[in-house]
Amino acid sequence: MPAVGMGTALPIPVPHEVTKDAVLAAIELGFCHLDTAAMYGTATEGPVGEAVADAVRRGLLRSREEVFVTSKLWCTTCHPDLVLPSLRGTLLRKLQMEYVDLYLIHWPVCMKPGPITWPAKREDAVPFDFEAVWLAMEECHRLGLAKAIGVSNFTTKHLERVMSVATIPPAVNQVELNPVWQQRTLRAYCAEKGIHVAAYSPLGGQNWNGSGEANAVLESEVLAEIAQARGKTVAQISLRWIHEQGVTWIVKSYNKERLKQNLDIFGWELTDEDRLKISQIPQRKFVTAIALFSPEGEFTSVDLSEMDIV
Ligand code: A2P
Repeated sequence: MPAVGMGTALPIPVPHEVTKDAVLAAIELGFCHLDTAAMYGTATEGPVGEAVADAVRRGLLRSREEVFVTSKLWCTTCHPDLVLPSLRGTLLRKLQMEYVDLYLIHWPVCMKPGPITWPAKREDAVPFDFEAVWLAMEECHRLGLAKAIGVSNFTTKHLERVMSVATIPPAVNQVELNPVWQQRTLRAYCAEKGIHVAAYSPLGGQNWNGSGEANAVLESEVLAEIAQARGKTVAQISLRWIHEQGVTWIVKSYNKERLKQNLDIFGWELTDEDRLKISQIPQRKFVTAIALFSPEGEFTSVDLSEMDIV
């Protein structure tokens, strides 16, 4: 799995062409890892697929094999009989590819089958049969439709359930991870089990819950001090730190200059003093599964707290 990747998750929809052009620009700059999902409201699987096909036509890539493409199974299809049809839909109708390099269960949350809604109604949450869904993910791998399979937003408890039945353990757990939410316990667990960790929101994320709160990473004084001393940007300090932890980062930027800046984290390193200061940053999580659900509506079928989601 490439060490760095381009994300395409957006809190608000953008036209298809905007995503396609940004992905093409990223490929041109050297990104060879693209992250999408069935969920991304702006339907980014389609433009990602088109951008890759275009890049091959234009000679920016020799073939599709030169990029690593990740997509994700949405909560409404976390039912054993819907996993394979969902991946086939992603591949045939959206990405127009024969396989994904990595297919992830997007959240440890199962919703009633049906159209994707954001946020979902609370009564749409149903118990998640992790074991059966994981075995369906394994089938996708056996059929060659997903070169690797994994999970996203899983805690150690969710991973334990998957591991208890897995004949193919999850290759990756993609989670919120940055200097302000370092995930030390989860990382130690994943290292022990041989599960690679990938970071989303490596720069503190976008305004997912609409709270308009300041971005704790990009506005961190500790990171700003280190950035100034090293002649780098705060974003580069965060991305470099994640890279040094052995974690793959996935950052969304549709801006060419920032895409370029984000790739420029190699050939230099943080000092021990920088690492110590970063290790002392107070920790705070921003993305919660509760944000998947609308606060309105009766919540009858299952208590979210019982689902052990955070
Ligand atoms: P933009 O697309 O305008 O560059 P996520 O955490 O979901 O990956 O989102 C990252 C957010 O940080 C996006 O809003 C993105 O906006 C912004 N961003 C990406 N790279 C940089 C950078 N180098 N400096 C500042 N902001 C960045």
